[in-house]
Amino acid sequence: MTQRSPLSRQRLQELIRSLGGEEAFKDLMRRFYRVMADDVMIGFFFAGRDPDTIADKQSLFVLHSAGLIQAPPEHGPATAHRNLAPILKGHFDRRIRILNEVLQNAGVSAGDIKTWVGFEESFRKVVESDS
Ligand code: HEM
Repeated sequence: MTQRSPLSRQRLQELIRSLGGEEAFKDLMRRFYRVMADDVMIGFFFAGRDPDTIADKQSLFVLHSAGLIQAPPEHGPATAHRNLAPILKGHFDRRIRILNEVLQNAGVSAGDIKTWVGFEESFRKVVESDS
């Protein structure tokens, strides 16, 4: 199964550039994962795990999808969650809501939020257990 996003590499590169570059993007990803790890609904997935480490892997995954780095992380979304409780629609919806809030609070433009959320949404079927 392919793990490439339907979003073009170019669009992802534009997003990362627009967010302020790779470091700014990684910083936003860490913020996103810290909020998820503290969340009442989906925080339990991260119990005993370091959200910054997971965020950095997710950043690598996106940077690889954008064609900005050569080596992909060991796991993509299709295999990363095998040791977790089933991720259900409500969990995924919550993740998207948190992503929206974190990006809005960080002053990210509506267009960039739409692109990032669209990227995430393209993995819903791969990640959710009940769809
Ligand atoms: C509600 C939805 C999600 C939850 C609760 C979740 C949770 C997690 C957790 C807890 C880990 C660490 C697993 C471990 O340590 O064994 C992880 C890893 C990861 N997740 Fe997710 N995830 C979600 C959605 C996604 C999506 C949409 C993507 C891709 C767009 C993604 C990509 C990844 C990647 C790349 C890793 C790291 C794999 C590695 O270890 O190299 N996840 N996720």
